[in-house]
Amino acid sequence: MFFEYAFLVTVVIGVSVSLFYCAVTGISPIPSSAISRDCILDCMPDGFSGTVAELGAGWGSLAFPLAAAFPDAQILAYELSPVPWLFMHMRQIVFRRKNLTISRANFMKRPMGGVTAVVCYLHSEGLEKARPKMEAELEAGTLLISNSFDMPGWEPETIHRLDDSFCPEVYVYRVPENPLSGVEG
Ligand SMILES: C[S@@+](CC[C@H](N)C(=O)[O-])C[C@H]1O[C@@H](n2cnc3c(N)ncnc32)[C@H](O)[C@@H]1O
Repeated sequence: MFFEYAFLVTVVIGVSVSLFYCAVTGISPIPSSAISRDCILDCMPDGFSGTVAELGAGWGSLAFPLAAAFPDAQILAYELSPVPWLFMHMRQIVFRRKNLTISRANFMKRPMGGVTAVVCYLHSEGLEKARPKMEAELEAGTLLISNSFDMPGWEPETIHRLDDSFCPEVYVYRVPENPLSGVEG
């Protein structure tokens, strides 16, 4: 009886915390579909060996495959919501990837200098909020791969249309030379 009660309390707390963080971040920790994940991996340059920031890494559905596919790259996975972060952390304990760093953090408060590619699955509103930071801190030409949502104001280099009603597009961008956020009016 005690264990059933403890399990129930844990589930209720976990769900409540997750709902709270959905409200804070504006997006649920829904994972990228397998089709979109494969497309994102294909969009990465062959043999990529730079630093990839995953903005909102959820349960690690992209972070672990990225770390496996690009062993010479460093993957920085940021996740604010404690439940998916804890899951990702446990996953790292069991299936350790040396080139994957998992942080429970708001990516908006983490420096992006030195990052040479960004991947994310955020709403366009979240992307728009992150845009000034990306424009200020990332080198022009840095790769941004966004699952399903476009970056308002940026021209995509490529849009991959997927046969996947869940994640229908993958947008590929380069950080522009003349950032919008620095332009008056
Ligand atoms: C739709 S999920 C995507 C998960 C993963 N990237 C994937 O593709 O499978 C978006 C995640 O971003 C996280 N997130 C949103 N804003 C964030 C922020 N400012 N800092 C850290 N994580 C954030 C949410 O908690 C959520 O887990």
